[in-house]
This record gives sequence, structure tokens and C-alpha cells, in this order.
Amino acid sequence: MLEVERLSIRFGEAFAVREASLSVAPGERVGIVGESGCGKSVLAASLLGLAPEAARVAGSIRLSGAELVGASERRWRSHRGRDIAMVFQEPMSALNPLRRIGQILAEPIVLHQGLSRIAAEVRVLALLDEVGIPDPRARLSQFPHQLSGGQRQRVLIALALAADPSILIADEPTTALDANMAVRIVDLLVDLTRSRGMGLIFISHDLGVVARATERVIVMYGGDIVETGPTRGTLAAPRHPYTAGLLAARPSIARVGAVRTRLSTIPGTVPPVGRRAPGCPFSGRCAVELPRCAGDRPRAIDLGEGARAACHRLADAGPRGDRVPEDASGRAPEAVR
Ligand SMILES: Nc1ncnc2c1ncn2[C@@H]1O[C@H](COP(=O)(O)OP(=O)(O)OP(=O)(O)O)[C@@H](O)[C@H]1O
Ligand SMILES: [Mg+2]
Repeated sequence: MLEVERLSIRFGEAFAVREASLSVAPGERVGIVGESGCGKSVLAASLLGLAPEAARVAGSIRLSGAELVGASERRWRSHRGRDIAMVFQEPMSALNPLRRIGQILAEPIVLHQGLSRIAAEVRVLALLDEVGIPDPRARLSQFPHQLSGGQRQRVLIALALAADPSILIADEPTTALDANMAVRIVDLLVDLTRSRGMGLIFISHDLGVVARATERVIVMYGGDIVETGPTRGTLAAPRHPYTAGLLAARPSIARVGAVRTRLSTIPGTVPPVGRRAPGCPFSGRCAVELPRCAGDRPRAIDLGEGARAACHRLADAGPRGDRVPEDASGRAPEAVR
């Protein structure tokens, strides 16, 4: 349904995303994780033809067979919403505060599907019900600020569903919510992909919600996909030192109140796009770095069962690879529920 091959996104000479390949099949749920600035949102936006104006996009994006890299805005518009739609991060800024929920949701339906006002209202009520908003009719005349954060996020999801997309991208849909509400929104997204047979790309910093929401995970660092594989296996036994570091940096309830409560974190920060090493993007921060890592970009090694990781240590160990040494992050990676 969605096939991305060697997609690169440059700002001037600097790569925000470098040769990313991924695919999403009908009904499949794929997570993208990685620290701030590693290219998740720029990648997601480019899948809707909404990359920033300054961005140079190269490679291939195929949606239902149609090649869209280099496509005109008119062609993108014929796919956007129907083939692929996006739930944005900030419900408050994505919803016009001066318009009523009913108007916000009816507009794209009237515009794109040419339904009458009355038919559109029936559709809006069905959408609000589908995303779990109680008493939908009472919501039609309300403004976004009259809804709770969780309900606003549900309205945004309803908005993205308005044109029956085959693939939904949710970029950090839970960061503005408390943990309990985050879980409920994640479960809603999972239910919707099941009931609609829709593909999902779920972007988040939160490995816990990614583990709950997705079957496959893509780990990005500094614009590169450094590891990918089945979510459970990858998070239980990461092969790339960066993935291991991300897991070790997670706050764990078990460790709160323990003798050592200081979090293990990865030293340093994601380098800005203009200052990235030509080799492995994680070099300079990696605890198990080899001399050639900074200059020589590691190829992705096939680890079986759809798992791949790009690390020189795995290449050295042969195709079966070695587990990331426990000292890569200071401690053994812990399993994710
Ligand atoms: N319009 C732009 N011009 C230049 N660089 C940009 C532009 N937009 C994004 N970038 C750069 O691209 C890189 C990737 O940014 P992106 O927003 O995709 O990160 P992200 O992984 O989504 O981070 P976060 O978790 O904070 O949302 C960043 O280094 C950012 O500075
Ligand atoms: Mg982002």
C-alpha cells in the first residue's frame, strides 16, 4: 500500500533523512521512534507531500502503486486524505478555536465528497461516535476549548478519518495527554486499524506506547533508520547500540525509589543536520564505537524475521550478529511489556 525506497530529504547540503526505506501493508501498524530532531516528522510530512518548502526530496514514495516523489501539488491532493492522512501532535493548534466541532468536521466532507450539509452531518455524527465521543450531537455546536484534551485528540482523529484513508499517520498523538488518556487514545487507534483494515504509522518518543500500538518498529537516529524489526523482539533484545540506549534511558516504575534513581541516559544530543558524521550517525555518542564508525557508514544487516540493523559490530559478527554487549548502555536492556 505504501512503499518508500531510499528516501532522502535534504536542507541544502545537509540530510534530515538519509536513504530511508519502509513499507506499510493494509492493516499493519508500524512505529517510528527516536530522539527529538532525528527526522521523524520531516519523514512523515514528506509521505503526505507536506515536507517544508526548503526540503529537497529524492528517492521513491509509492502509494497504491503511484509514484509521488516529484508529483505536482494537484496529484498529491488527490491522494492526501484518501490514501494517507495525518493526525497532528497539537490538538489545540490543529483545531481552529473559532469554529464549532460540527463545522470543523463537516468542511472536508462537504468539500471533498460533495455531500449535502445534511448528509455531511450524519457522517460527522458517525465519525464522532466511531472515535468514542459520547453524545456526539451535543458536541456539534461546541468549540474546541470546551472539550477535554483527550476529546480534542479524538476529534483530530475523526478529522483524519473523514475521507476514509488507507493509511493513517499519527505524529506524537499522545504527548499532550496524561498517561491514562494516552493509553486510551493508543487503544482507539489500534481498534480503528482493525475495524477499518487501515495501515498505521505511529510516531512517538514513548517506547511504552509504541510497544502497545505497533507490530513493527523503526528506530531513527540522526536521519538514518538504524534498526527495524518486530516491535516485541526489537525492544526486548535490541541489536543497535542506539536502540539499547533508548531503552536504558526509559524511566521505569521499578526503579523509582530504588537506591539508585538516577536515569541512565545517552550522553550528548542528536547532532544538528548540518553537523553529522559521514559514517554512522551514532558515532561520537556510541559507547562501543569502533575506529571506522565515524567515517564509514554501516550497511543495514539482515537479522532474520524482518529485523535489520545498521552497525559495524553486527557486520563483523556475520549475518547472525551478536547481541548488543551489555556495556553498550551501561546495563542490560529491559524487556518492554
Ligand atoms: N524547514 C526546515 N529547514 C531546515 N531544517 C529543518 C526544517 N525542518 C526540520 N529541519 C531539521 O530536520 C531535522 C529533523 O526534524 P524533525 O522535525 O523531523 O525531527 P523529529 O524527529 O520529528 O523531532 P521531534 O521528536 O522533536 O518531533 C531537524 O534537525 C530539524 O532541525
Ligand atoms: Mg516531530
